Amino acid sequence: MPPVNRRNHLLAIDQGTTSSRAIVFDARGAIVASAQREFDQFYPEEAWVEHDANRIWTDVLAVCREAIDRAGLSAADLAACGITNQRETTVIWDRATGEPIHRAIVWQDRRTAERCRALADDSTEAWLQERTGLLMDPYFSATKIAWLLDHVDGARARAEAGELAFGTIDAWLLWHLTDGAVHATDATNASRTLLFNIHDQRWDDELLAFFDVPAALLPEVRDTASDFGTISKDLLGAEIPIAAMVGDQQAALVGQACFAPGMAKSTYGTGCFLMLNVGETAVLSRHRLLTTVAYRIGGRTTYALEGSIFVAGAAIQWLRDALHLFEKAEQTQALAASIEHTDGVYLVPAFTGLGAPYWDPAARGAILGLTRDTGIEQIVRAALESTCYQTRDLVGAIGDDAPGPRELRVDGGMAANDLVCGFLADILQTPVERPEIIETTALGAAYLAGLQVGLYESLEAVGALWRAERRFEVTREAAEVDALYDGWCRAVARVRCAD
Ligand code: G3P
Repeated sequence: MPPVNRRNHLLAIDQGTTSSRAIVFDARGAIVASAQREFDQFYPEEAWVEHDANRIWTDVLAVCREAIDRAGLSAADLAACGITNQRETTVIWDRATGEPIHRAIVWQDRRTAERCRALADDSTEAWLQERTGLLMDPYFSATKIAWLLDHVDGARARAEAGELAFGTIDAWLLWHLTDGAVHATDATNASRTLLFNIHDQRWDDELLAFFDVPAALLPEVRDTASDFGTISKDLLGAEIPIAAMVGDQQAALVGQACFAPGMAKSTYGTGCFLMLNVGETAVLSRHRLLTTVAYRIGGRTTYALEGSIFVAGAAIQWLRDALHLFEKAEQTQALAASIEHTDGVYLVPAFTGLGAPYWDPAARGAILGLTRDTGIEQIVRAALESTCYQTRDLVGAIGDDAPGPRELRVDGGMAANDLVCGFLADILQTPVERPEIIETTALGAAYLAGLQVGLYESLEAVGALWRAERRFEVTREAAEVDALYDGWCRAVARVRCAD
């Protein structure tokens, strides 16, 4: 690796669902400085979620300036910038003015659920999965785009005339960072739209016709590590090459250096996203997990299987904010560790239905197995354990389609909890590793940008920088944890509505 010098720094933009961040890394992947801004969520109707795309852009610019300042650097010291982003969230803007035609429709938004139901039947689902690796669900961008075109006055005609541009947040930011010069996205973000053929690596005309989306709206799809243009000099004082764009879960996979087939990471934030590298051949799931592009580098595509849990850290927030069982999330570790087990109490946090592998939107949460002896400790511990049981659900579903991981690399807020990591290792019967640098999402974007500009020779060189802060070994017998997991499965069966 080249020696560290001022010009070897990397800027990562991490534009997430609730906040926009910028982090300056040195070439070894250490954080030099960061800045963050939270922004408003808009809920205009039940199950609708919107973001102000202009606010996202101005916040991103502001945090970039702050992070560079705090690092004591100038833009000229940055070798490159990588962008990582909340995926699927849909923006359509006017190519002439750069103004969005509507607020962004966020990935969580369910307004097109009815439309998806109307479009879905078994053969359509199979056809979609075969081409895109995804399911017919409002989560993805295609039906959100069609909704905007059909509900904003004149939008469809303007889209067909080439006056409008669509992008996920990466493309929206790129457009502004390059002063409208580049309209592009990367293969990971494209693979979340339901419009992109993951085998041919191109927008698919039949999918565009099926979802009624004009091709004239679409950005060019480039490699994940690629030349995306430069940040305009007027914005940060010097031009910075934009050398990577990557969806946030894929960025975490890279930040966790899961470069070989069979390596997996799980990110525990509000929800949880587990991703397994399956190599250069796409593997389709038989258990309604998603097949997605992990990254595309030098024209070569690596694929991943992905499972999402809707509620992980959100269950802890609920215990804190709605039930007032404790004041700070950090207290949960001590509360849960003060008892040996939950005494048969299970908490199924199906607040908004169950995600993979159940996909049961009508299911609702429950706490089961309560007795007169149940106290706050058992309920808190049950909430923490539910995250581990749900991860086992995902790993079990993956295991039917591809060899499961030999170890699991974890990150995100809940991964800081030793009790969760230890219990996870036991429940999975697989060691769990927590990295030294926990900001794996931003780090992944920085690494990819560094790779593109030659700061790293190869993914292997990036992988050599990964270090475990702690490895959690399996400490309990399979039979013991299988009995606990059976209890979880019975609890889930009690809350399920779909077959
Ligand atoms: O698919 C949605 C995901 O990319 C959102 O991630 O971290 O912004 O909640 P996050």
